[in-house]
Amino acid sequence: MPPTPPASGPDPHPGPGPRLSRRRLLQLGLALPLPMALAACDDGPAGGPAGPTTAARATTAAGAAGTLAPTPACDDGDDPTLAQTEGPYFTPNSPERASLLEAGMGGRRLVVAGTVLTTDCRPVRRALLDFWQADDAGRYDNQGYRLRGHQFSDAKGGWRLETVVPGLYTGRTRHIHVKVQARNQPVLTTQLYFPGEPANQRDGLFRPDLQVAQRDHAGARQAQFAFVLDR
Ligand SMILES: [Fe+2]
Repeated sequence: MPPTPPASGPDPHPGPGPRLSRRRLLQLGLALPLPMALAACDDGPAGGPAGPTTAARATTAAGAAGTLAPTPACDDGDDPTLAQTEGPYFTPNSPERASLLEAGMGGRRLVVAGTVLTTDCRPVRRALLDFWQADDAGRYDNQGYRLRGHQFSDAKGGWRLETVVPGLYTGRTRHIHVKVQARNQPVLTTQLYFPGEPANQRDGLFRPDLQVAQRDHAGARQAQFAFVLDR
């Protein structure tokens, strides 16, 4: 795990931020496609305009292919994201980078974007997100940092990862490992999954609540997920 966000500079967690009522979020979560629902989670006062940064990112993630189906986030009864095993292939001190792509890397391009939220749907800024995954052939780099990297959520809790769709390996469906940590808070270790994978039902670790919302478009995959931290 890389170090927690630096303590210098403006406090990244200065206290309660803008929020919507749960009732309002329920309405939005049920009524809007995912990009707009995510944007609604970190916009201004109730009824105010959506925050442009996250809204723009969500729109980018959804792309021209259309909107995505809702995933559990702030419209699921405020449950925190499920924790899952770290597995045997975590390597600490990954490089800070939002793109894991490297020249010559095989596999279908994948962009996963989303937010980090509290259980009452407040954005978590400067949350650490440390991703690691297998390559297109199902292999982990256990000597170096290929397909490993960490980043920090932005002021609206937003994050964006550029990578490739992970390959299959024995006993596992496609998945991406991640550790998510708000400053000075416990680490959430979990895994993200992809809908429609035949191996999902054969993988004892697979959980539907950890599936991304996704679209395949122009040979690439665009996906979204909102992490909800219990804090
Ligand atoms: Fe794994």
